[in-house]
Amino acid sequence: MRLQGKVAVITGGASGIGRETALIFAREGAGVAIWDMDQEGAEVAEHIEKNGGQALFSRVDVSKASEVEKALKEVEEKLGKVDILINNAGITRDGFLTKMDPEDWQKVMDVNLTGVFNCSKVVAQSMLEREQGVIINSSSVVGVYGNVGQTNYSATKAGVIGLTHTWSKELGKKGIRVNAVAPGFVATPMTEKVPDKILDKMKDKTPLGRLGQPEDIANAYLYLASDEAAFVNGAILQVDGGLVL
Ligand code: CAA
Ligand code: NAI
Repeated sequence: MRLQGKVAVITGGASGIGRETALIFAREGAGVAIWDMDQEGAEVAEHIEKNGGQALFSRVDVSKASEVEKALKEVEEKLGKVDILINNAGITRDGFLTKMDPEDWQKVMDVNLTGVFNCSKVVAQSMLEREQGVIINSSSVVGVYGNVGQTNYSATKAGVIGLTHTWSKELGKKGIRVNAVAPGFVATPMTEKVPDKILDKMKDKTPLGRLGQPEDIANAYLYLASDEAAFVNGAILQVDGGLVL
């Protein structure tokens, strides 16, 4: 068990990559806190508990600092101090630059970037007190190369790379590792909204010839969270089957 005795917070753990991560982390021995706006997260927590694991669901909007602070207190009371934070919650509001509604620009900033800031700020404070911990952020192949129709989203995912590098320097000195995963196109509810024509094109451009599966990304989170990655800090791990956009 690679995460025995650890406590992990997984944002966006109700669906897709986050759900798979919660299940895998629980199997590896972690107590898992799922922070999500979707009540479905309660069922993921129930499933883990039924299978002998330890889990807690809190209904949290990561873009609201007060909700994040309250949820952290609950985790500390019920599961203990947080060892691992997976900043996985994210949304898309796609559209061409000239047609993009300012509200769609702002909403994606609030969740994908401010959400990562809010969660990391409070959890890092507690990790600093113990001089240990791991923070893993969710970037994207789109944050590395850009993508047609994703002005807002690509800006947030590139921003996540910037703050990952910065925090790996600020917090690394105090024993806290900070890394990011940059997935390619993964089969989850997020990509179900993408027109088939475009998804097929993405598959064709991927040397491995398929979309990623949620466990492909969850296993990358697991590696970075485990002691096997004890010397990995400030890395942006591309898990994309070789896709170049
Ligand atoms: N590459 C090349 N051409 C593209 C394209 C792309 N990624 N996206 C759209 N186009 C093309 C369309 O094929 C279409 O071409 P034709 O006129 O020749 O048919 C043209 O641009 C106009 O497209 P739409 O008719 O779809 O225009 P729209 O205004 O109705 O919608 C859009 C625009 C919302 C951007 C829509 O095209 C779309 O959803 N594109 C997909 C965007 C995308 O890839 N999102 C990824 C979401 S998943 C994710 O983000 C996870 C991750 O990290 C990878
Ligand atoms: P998903 O849509 O299946 O899951 C996202 C989860 O985040 C949902 O449960 C949703 O309720 C939650 N969420 C949304 N807004 C929230 C908020 N304000 N507060 C708390 N929770 C919130 O998406 P998926 O694919 O599992 O994505 C997970 C992460 O991976 C996202 O950050 C996404 O940007 C990133 N990613 C996904 C890729 C893909 O192709 N699916 C590729 C690259 C990155």
